[in-house]
Amino acid sequence: MNKSWGSGSAKKRNQLVEEFLESISFDKRLYKYDIQGSIAHVKMLAKCKIIADSEGKRIVKALKEIEKEIKSGKFKFDPSLEDIHTHIEKRLIEKIGDVGAKLHTARSRNDQVSLDMRLFLRDEIKEIAKLIRNLQKSILKVAEKNIDTVMPGYTHLQHAQPILFSHWIMAYFFMLDRDWERFLNTFDRVNVSPLGAAALAGTSHAIDREYTARLLGFSKVTPSSMDAVSDRDFIIEFLADASLIMMHLSRLSEELILFSSKEFGFIELSDDFTTGSSIMPQKKNPDVCELIRGKTGRVYGNLMSLLTTMKSLPLAYNRDMQEDKVPLFDTVDTLKGSLSLSAQMLDTMKINKKKMLASLEGDFSMATDLADYLVKKGVPFRKAHQVVSKLVKGTVKKKKDLAGLTLKEFKSYSTLFGRNVFDTIKVKVGIAARKSSGGTAKESVKRLIAQGKEIVKKK
Ligand code: ARG
Repeated sequence: MNKSWGSGSAKKRNQLVEEFLESISFDKRLYKYDIQGSIAHVKMLAKCKIIADSEGKRIVKALKEIEKEIKSGKFKFDPSLEDIHTHIEKRLIEKIGDVGAKLHTARSRNDQVSLDMRLFLRDEIKEIAKLIRNLQKSILKVAEKNIDTVMPGYTHLQHAQPILFSHWIMAYFFMLDRDWERFLNTFDRVNVSPLGAAALAGTSHAIDREYTARLLGFSKVTPSSMDAVSDRDFIIEFLADASLIMMHLSRLSEELILFSSKEFGFIELSDDFTTGSSIMPQKKNPDVCELIRGKTGRVYGNLMSLLTTMKSLPLAYNRDMQEDKVPLFDTVDTLKGSLSLSAQMLDTMKINKKKMLASLEGDFSMATDLADYLVKKGVPFRKAHQVVSKLVKGTVKKKKDLAGLTLKEFKSYSTLFGRNVFDTIKVKVGIAARKSSGGTAKESVKRLIAQGKEIVKKK
């Protein structure tokens, strides 16, 4: 088959070149978008009297048949036909001859490929937005179930202050919410029709770009035909959004890995998401979490890959741009898998409340509360900090913990300490006191959960 349109050369191309140039092995997944775009284009050509109505109808009918052929697996793909656009058009001409050959009037593969990618991404963004919401719902469930579960909060991975487990997990809820918004913002820039830009300079046919845009549900048309076919910003932007959310999922995975280790023992992942070892019978490895963390690297790489591909391309279309597909498809698949699995892991993990509480025993994570105790008695915070710092050092030296100190010992650091200091150093008291907006007190976390429930209603 002569693969190039009108190159004049009928000679069979070197196979290595053919394999090097083809994109059908990966862009066939765009077929339904290619057909959707072609149908809109044909309807526009007929409406603008560039082709006859009857011709338009025949083309649409044949395109729908081709869609069925591809869906059923009967369609024969041939790498020498390069890409999905050529495959569908050749098949159309095979089926209905010269009428089919009119489809490509006032259109180029350059606007067609951008169109297909936009239609594809629109659907994928909608799907991803739903998966984000699902994961947020799983987080809300865990938070509600653990509204009273106490755990150490960390900075530098050292015990900092006690917090509620529900407060910890709600942090991820809000990260994901920014991600959701970012994808929806990107959607607005994806949702623009490049169709009618033709190869680069527009067309001399009296087409109606707004009409095809309307048929395809786009909010507007690209202003410049040159920009329309040169632009891959919308894909890069999506890859950047995906990198950010994968970073969030990777941090969650990292914490689940840590928390499920023997040293922490705060949670236990369901067997469905862990694997055994080929040699150590006791092992329960958190491979799904590790792979979410690991694949995040690949998603960042995909962003870098397309940024680099695009960085010195002259206007307008260059074949380099075919290299947008593999990183995009890979990112979409990785992200969707990571989102679904993260939700499933949260839905099925077991929480060890006792272990979390016990890990706070004998630590000094109530030291800030002691300093605040003095502040409330009029001591400037910096001074109170010094006093408590000395108190902690002295207590460690005595091999004691805060709960083991007598009132006399407290008073030896500041006479302002009174009987009620024993209440102040209680973990639950400290948590309940942090009622500030966004803080870890149960009533504050309940507000976060209520806010979260409103947010997940937004589609
Ligand atoms: N397979 C090409 C791609 O994915 C389609 C556009 C081809 N245009 C062209 N002028 N060769 O980018």
